[in-house]
Amino acid sequence: MTATTATAPGKEQSAEEPGPAGPNDPFDRDVLPTPPGATAALLRSLLAPMKARVAVTTLLLLLQQAAVQAGPLLVAYAIDSAVPAFRRDDLGPLIAVGVAYLLCALASGVLQYAFILLSARVNQDVLLDLRGRIFRHAQALSLDFHERYTSGRLISRSTTDVESLRELLDEGLQELVTVILSFVYISAMLLWLDLGLGTVAVASFVPLYLLVRLYRRRAARVYTLRSTAIAAVIVKFVETMNGIRPVRAFRREAANDADFRVLNTRHERTNGDALLEMARYVVGSRLVANTAVAGIVLWGAYRVAGGTLALGVLAAAVLYLRRLYDPIDRLGMFLNSYQSAAASLEKIAGLLAQTPSVPEPSAPRQLPALASEHPGREVVFDGVRFGYRTGGEVLPRFDLTMPAGQTVAVVGSTGAGKSTLAKLLARFYDPSDGRVLLDGVDLRELAVPELRRGVVMVTQEAFLFSGTVAENIAIGRPDATREEIEQAAKAIGAHDFISSLPDGYDTDVRKRGGRISAGQRQLVAFARALLADPAVLILDEATSSLDIPGERAVQRAMSTVLHGRTAVVIAHRLSTVEIADRVLVMEHGKIVEDGTPAELVAGTGRFADLHRAWRDSLA
Ligand SMILES: Nc1ncnc2c1ncn2[C@@H]1O[C@H](COP(=O)(O)OP(=O)(O)OP(=O)(O)O)[C@@H](O)[C@H]1O
Ligand SMILES: [Mg+2]
Repeated sequence: MTATTATAPGKEQSAEEPGPAGPNDPFDRDVLPTPPGATAALLRSLLAPMKARVAVTTLLLLLQQAAVQAGPLLVAYAIDSAVPAFRRDDLGPLIAVGVAYLLCALASGVLQYAFILLSARVNQDVLLDLRGRIFRHAQALSLDFHERYTSGRLISRSTTDVESLRELLDEGLQELVTVILSFVYISAMLLWLDLGLGTVAVASFVPLYLLVRLYRRRAARVYTLRSTAIAAVIVKFVETMNGIRPVRAFRREAANDADFRVLNTRHERTNGDALLEMARYVVGSRLVANTAVAGIVLWGAYRVAGGTLALGVLAAAVLYLRRLYDPIDRLGMFLNSYQSAAASLEKIAGLLAQTPSVPEPSAPRQLPALASEHPGREVVFDGVRFGYRTGGEVLPRFDLTMPAGQTVAVVGSTGAGKSTLAKLLARFYDPSDGRVLLDGVDLRELAVPELRRGVVMVTQEAFLFSGTVAENIAIGRPDATREEIEQAAKAIGAHDFISSLPDGYDTDVRKRGGRISAGQRQLVAFARALLADPAVLILDEATSSLDIPGERAVQRAMSTVLHGRTAVVIAHRLSTVEIADRVLVMEHGKIVEDGTPAELVAGTGRFADLHRAWRDSLA
């Protein structure tokens, strides 16, 4: 099946959708640049494991159609042979026809039942596999992908697009195979019954075929527009609800309503267009079909009157044609679901064809064993250059060595590149040039579990997963015991507030009563990082939501926790800097000052200015 053909016209259309990075970013479109053949390859790989079952279902359908299509033939036999025999008092043939008809009906019912059961199972497995693949793949893709391809798009891939495939598999495919089979069976039967009538009937397929082709082309366009429109509706919905707090704070409701109304109306309009195309098709195909039937009845009647055609044969021919033309309406439906499924499959294939920009190493290396007296590791930025895909260079050639066990504070103005430095060290991104080394091993070569164990980052956002507080802390080390979890919480001063929650450590953070404040979230995130016990700990504004006593408590804990570990502490509040062995001042992606806190405070540089201003503000 060539699922790749359907969506080309939609590519210009989807560029209309607003997105974060301007109209020329391919990630703004639902259809990502897809390598040729990717869609067909995806379909093949989905069906490959069920070859045998697909073959059996096809066989079932083949037999079922044979049983169904025997009907008119039996009618012809009844009229032309059994009824005359009955007139001669021979009841045998009529009984035989009746029994055969019943048997065929029974067989077709049973076969259809088996077919539905079996094909439903195949379809379920295909969709299960596909949705799983989308989730796994999206999760494995690097951050820069997620920054560009919104979560709304991902949701619409794994909901509407998978659903449209389900529609095709559940109804459409059976319909198509049935139609094709009936065409083959019926054409053969008609030609065999009577060459002349058969030829006329087969000739009527030509305009029908042209009609189907025309419809297919027009429907392809309309359906791509429609699926793009529904995706835009979902994207808007998700983005608005994700940002519901700023929406409220800035009274964006009315503006959002207006935007949504436009998208919603556009979607409904495309729905209307699709229905209109469908209506035109149905009218056209009925016209062709009924004209053909009328022609055959007229000509057939003329021949029956002239004695060159048996009445039963004419009856069978008309019955066959009716049977054939009936599914043609449904063929339109099938083409619809085929169009949307093909469009959906192409979008999914485009998503699955994305490769992580931060790939796992093909030959992963291990870190050298840690000397037991120092749990830290040396970090080296060696000629690193980096820029985000959607912007200019953030780090222009960056060199830095942090000896194992050093606590380095990084300060600098907003946008200087501090978080970027941290994200490179955690390998959320790879440098465009140069290397980041952990104990001499390039992060790109490091086995993923090694990296996750080696470097842990705590950020301002302190995300909590659904589940209990204890589970959230244990993410740092899934095999941790309850004691270890509590110890970690105690160490950073989170134990008191956790104990006061309705169910203590077993409070569900997403349930009522489990809602915790931003500062408390940060404490939980800290406990999680502590438990993970990494060689390199990165704290990016990790105490920004804490009050002064809370921050002090964390700092006290940190000075013991960080002991011997390599740590990067990024902070705007200079109080945090006091626990550092070394301070780096960053501006525009470069280190402009580097020294111990005491040296820098005593000097005349930027840090001294900052520090003085901070002192004054405290006084
Ligand atoms: N995901 C991103 N995509 C594109 N550009 C980004 C991204 N993140 C940061 N930038 C840009 O990179 C530059 C450095 O950002 P970075 O977050 O490293 O600054 P920072 O020093 O941490 O600032 P702050 O003190 O405000 O946290 C900024 O100009 C920012 O606009
Ligand atoms: Mg930052």
